[in-house]
Amino acid sequence: MSGTRTITIANRGGAAYSVAERRPLLDTLREQGVDLPYGCRYGGCITCAARLTAGTIDQRRQVALNNRQLANGYVLLCVARPVTDCVLEIGVESHGLLYRNPFLDPLAPHELKPAIARPKEP
Ligand code: FES
Repeated sequence: MSGTRTITIANRGGAAYSVAERRPLLDTLREQGVDLPYGCRYGGCITCAARLTAGTIDQRRQVALNNRQLANGYVLLCVARPVTDCVLEIGVESHGLLYRNPFLDPLAPHELKPAIARPKEP
């Protein structure tokens, strides 16, 4: 049907939902009974992050994800609208690549802020 897209949730048994392409996925999926966490609802807190594994999302209103998170496929469902049919992983089990563990994967010196990276002057 025109104006709708199919969203498949890979880590919920491949359940598929027909959603409006012009509305945020957080709303259209929750209305169909998908249990999704959320907080701010304006793309600023990352609580609603999910991982896009196929398809295209318009999330131009998001302000919280950095380039690394975007490159790993993360989308913020409260501001994400489906451009095509999509496959998502949802919930905290999809958040494995969302945050970087500084103990397992320390920042390189060039990634630190200059005031932190530079040794203290005597
Ligand atoms: S609910 Fe805060 S970013 Fe989506």
